[in-house]
Amino acid sequence: MSLGSDTVLMNFSSFSLSLFFLVPPQIINISSDITVNEGSSVTLMCLAFGRPEPTVTWRHLSGKGRGFVSEDEYLEISGITRDQSGEYECSAVNDVAAPDIRRVKITVNYPPYISNAKNTGASVGQKGILRCEASAVPVAEFQWFKEETSPSPFSPRRLANGLDGVRIENKGRMSTLTFFNVSEKDYGNYTCVATNKLGNSNASIILYGPGAVHDGSNAASRAMACLWLSGTLLAHFLIKF
Ligand SMILES: *[C@@H]1O[C@H](CO)[C@@H](O)[C@H](O)[C@H]1NC(C)=O
Ligand SMILES: *[C@@H]1O[C@H](CO)[C@@H](O)[C@H](O)[C@H]1NC(C)=O
Ligand SMILES: *[C@@H]1O[C@H](CO)[C@@H](O)[C@H](O)[C@H]1NC(C)=O
Ligand SMILES: *[C@@H]1O[C@H](CO)[C@@H](O)[C@H](O)[C@H]1NC(C)=O
Repeated sequence: MSLGSDTVLMNFSSFSLSLFFLVPPQIINISSDITVNEGSSVTLMCLAFGRPEPTVTWRHLSGKGRGFVSEDEYLEISGITRDQSGEYECSAVNDVAAPDIRRVKITVNYPPYISNAKNTGASVGQKGILRCEASAVPVAEFQWFKEETSPSPFSPRRLANGLDGVRIENKGRMSTLTFFNVSEKDYGNYTCVATNKLGNSNASIILYGPGAVHDGSNAASRAMACLWLSGTLLAHFLIKF
């Protein structure tokens, strides 16, 4: 009888002992969301407790560089790129209970890059729209300029919203310059400038009329072709007579 109760007691204490040493994984300290400039070095930390000691891993959840990144409490990224921005997930795993999972967001700032700016045609009396698209973090602010040929050639004049019959609209990555009623004097060379706190970038966009040659190099090659053609015709003329 007494032997039996001893066994029960012994079993109970080893049971409570093992209970005491089994602790579910728990993340006790983790980095906060951060914003850094492209090229900087970043270290994320995820400290976890548990018995047995949990395995800590980092994964990149979003963006192009998505996937497994580190099997360590510390995730070090040197020279961070824009593709490495987004959500990172830390999981602490042991066999005792479900993993403890938390997320940290890294925002990577970078200067504007103009991804879309196309020459556009419009007829006199019609609506014309020039579009300029820039990717940037923080989001870019836009300005539009027109290349003036007079008084001094190629001096850019800043366009103001509501003046000269144009409207400038900025929505996220995109800026549009709308001419409500295109006239001859509107044709020409416009420059879109995208700026954020890390820098700026610009692109030239031509508003051209029907039948116009709207590419600088084409205009030049057409001029060359004209010269060549008149030269050839002249040669033929001289040979014949
Ligand atoms: C978390 O870790 C950081 C950096 O080591 C430390 O400054 C902070 O006090 C810690 N927070 C807690 C709640 O332990
Ligand atoms: C566009 O401009 C021309 C010349 O300035 C004017 O005659 C015409 O009525 C305008 N059209 C519209 C729709 O405003
Ligand atoms: C456009 O960019 C070039 C080269 O970075 C710069 O020289 C020029 O001043 C810029 N133009 C405008 C209107 O900002
Ligand atoms: C438009 O203006 C820009 C900036 O001045 C210049 O680099 C570009 O060659 C011009 N394009 C044409 C077709 O004239």
